[in-house]
Amino acid sequence: MPPSDYPSPSAPRQNPSQEIALSGPDISELEIDAVSRVLRSGRLSIGPMQEAFEALVSDAAGCDHGVAVNSGTSGLHLALLALGIGPGDEVITTPFSFVASANAILYVGATPKFVDICPRSLNMDPEKVEQAIGPRTKAILAVEALGNPTHMDRYAAIANKNEIHLVEDCCEALGTTYNGRKCGSFGRVGVFGFYPNKQITTGEGGMIVTDDQNLADLCRSLRNQGRTMPSELAQEGSSGLGLWLSHERLGYNYRLSEIACALGVAQMRRFGEIAEKRRRVASEYLDRLMGIPGIILPTIESGTSMSWFVFTIRLERGYTGEERDRVIQGLRNHDVGCAPYFPCIHLMPEYVRRFGYERGAFPIAESVSDRTIALPFHNGLTERDIDMVAQTLSVILSRENLARG
Ligand SMILES: Cc1ncc(COP(=O)(O)O)c(C=O)c1O
Repeated sequence: MPPSDYPSPSAPRQNPSQEIALSGPDISELEIDAVSRVLRSGRLSIGPMQEAFEALVSDAAGCDHGVAVNSGTSGLHLALLALGIGPGDEVITTPFSFVASANAILYVGATPKFVDICPRSLNMDPEKVEQAIGPRTKAILAVEALGNPTHMDRYAAIANKNEIHLVEDCCEALGTTYNGRKCGSFGRVGVFGFYPNKQITTGEGGMIVTDDQNLADLCRSLRNQGRTMPSELAQEGSSGLGLWLSHERLGYNYRLSEIACALGVAQMRRFGEIAEKRRRVASEYLDRLMGIPGIILPTIESGTSMSWFVFTIRLERGYTGEERDRVIQGLRNHDVGCAPYFPCIHLMPEYVRRFGYERGAFPIAESVSDRTIALPFHNGLTERDIDMVAQTLSVILSRENLARG
């Protein structure tokens, strides 16, 4: 049994007074068997499961190569390193994301150049991206915020035109397509994350995807302590015997274990079913929440097929961050797991200290961030759970509206 604070969504809640969890993995016997088989095999790292997992995810992303790593954050770090981005360079990115997307830019010693978002898609405003490009800009690190791929094609065109890289942080968008194109394939390199709140999970884990063989080889070397790449050995005319403990460059241990990869393979084999269930939960939420005064539902543009990472609503303009927090507290008091998604990155203490940002720097991102609420979202939610979330939200909002006069 999983611990009670981390309920498996595959099992409906036994006790209706238990909290409806914000998120949770969809784990079946297939995953348990796959992990057990690896444990029995004795091969716990760098083995066939890593290869199989890389092939499945790169295929789902429409890319030629996949490099499994131990987190989405590690994947972003390696992607930027492999592109040669470093001190003195600027990378354009969004303030409305999980902090890891901008942190990766700091890891390589470059500077994040934030641009404000579009109030509908919640992704960077493409015009502002274009305006932000300067002589030091080396890349655009674009995030599919809350899994929404809108504008990815525009960022790719801007990157192309300006001869800079597009790094796609698609940690939240595995399985989503936009105008027929798979997320992960818009940039020179894409990065997925497999934390347990994601569409599929490996516990912790990530995957770099790219069509560029050299970039993939370099990422493989960097994830494994900078080991010499096969192409480098060939150049040196080596027999290959020195490959294992030959370290060509400063690398990291960002490997993903065979245990985690086996979990990922099993999840990918069920991915159609998992994504379908997520779509069902999202569509039930949309049905139940439509018409509740005071909230804005997610906007999905035509041409988008979402695999759904989270389900967030936004309070209408005019609501303050404090009012939103009261709504969150009210939901939690009624055992509905929920969270503010996302607090702006530029206003995190580390970024304020380093760059001196103040409120007002990116007003759209700040206003959106003050009003969003992520509702419970996972495959274990029953129709009754969704009804209960919708009704509780509706009651709390009408009370909040009455209190405002
Ligand atoms: C947009 C985004 N970028 C990066 C990450 C980092 O992934 P991880 O938690 O696997 O390091 C996450 C995940 O949580 C994310 O949502």
